[in-house]
Amino acid sequence: MEGIVEGCLGFLYGLLMVICVGLLLLRVAEGRSVRWLALLVVSGVMLSCWVHSSVLKVGLMSVLCSVIHYVGREEVMLSTLDKAVLITGCDSGFGHDLARFLDSAGMRVFAGVLNELSPGALKLKKAASPNLTVLQLDITNSSQITQAYQYIKSQTGKAGLWALVNNAGVLGYVCDGEIQPIKMYKRHVDVNFIGSVEITQVFLPLIRQSKGRIISISSLAGEVPLPGFAGYGASKAAMIAYNGAIRQELYRWGVRVIIIQPGAFKTSEN
Ligand SMILES: NC(=O)c1ccc[n+]([C@@H]2O[C@H](COP(=O)([O-])OP(=O)(O)OC[C@H]3O[C@@H](n4cnc5c(N)ncnc54)[C@H](OP(=O)(O)O)[C@@H]3O)[C@@H](O)[C@H]2O)c1
Repeated sequence: MEGIVEGCLGFLYGLLMVICVGLLLLRVAEGRSVRWLALLVVSGVMLSCWVHSSVLKVGLMSVLCSVIHYVGREEVMLSTLDKAVLITGCDSGFGHDLARFLDSAGMRVFAGVLNELSPGALKLKKAASPNLTVLQLDITNSSQITQAYQYIKSQTGKAGLWALVNNAGVLGYVCDGEIQPIKMYKRHVDVNFIGSVEITQVFLPLIRQSKGRIISISSLAGEVPLPGFAGYGASKAAMIAYNGAIRQELYRWGVRVIIIQPGAFKTSEN
């Protein structure tokens, strides 16, 4: 009986080692955790040579794995140092919250707002650190886009822009496609599609410079046709198609293109 328990514990110890080494190897492949892997391997060899009780080996190895997991978890987080991000539509909702979050995480944040005197924009200015700049940026206004580009270029220098978050969007009201005014269809296309395309085109040189990323907030409605969302869904579908194409075109430049398609969220301000 004792032999069986000892055998099981020996097996458990081996399994624990294989899993931990495997997980750390995955992180090492991403350029992280080399020292933790070295520590684990050295400790494993020492335990195997000097400790004969399987219970003690499993116990010590479990403690070591927990410590490595706890102390090394910070490495899983991307470093925010010297990274600049532009987010559009920060007056409210996702954009506003994301700007505050990335600011608190230590990023250089350029928060584009539709109206720099809106309550959301003023709140952002008040609550943020000096690393966050609120910029007047209506994404349907070419001259405001150019001004924002010139300013961000002068601030980021050689590092370029690490990320552009195309968040600004309009939903308007939910109604049958038959009665939705053409004016609203045009607004959907102008803001949700053309505006984000123009921003992307203008800022691409800065993003390419840093081998950065373009993140666009589309919608579930752009993938699945939903009653009441004809115009909105169509504009978000256009966004998905556009980003799908440029994702492949920009891959060779080291620029990543990411689409996020949220379902329905009650964001902070709506
Ligand atoms: N919340 C959801 O459930 C959900 C689901 C799927 C997708 N999304 C998408 O996620 C993004 C953020 O949505 P949200 O829920 O956070 O809504 P939100 O609070 O209305 O945020 C959108 C922001 O974009 C701004 N904006 C509108 N037109 C603009 C323009 N021409 N230039 C610059 N900014 C402009 C809006 O300003 P004003 O408020 O002053 O108009 C608003 O601050 C949108 O693209 C939306 O379509 C949201």
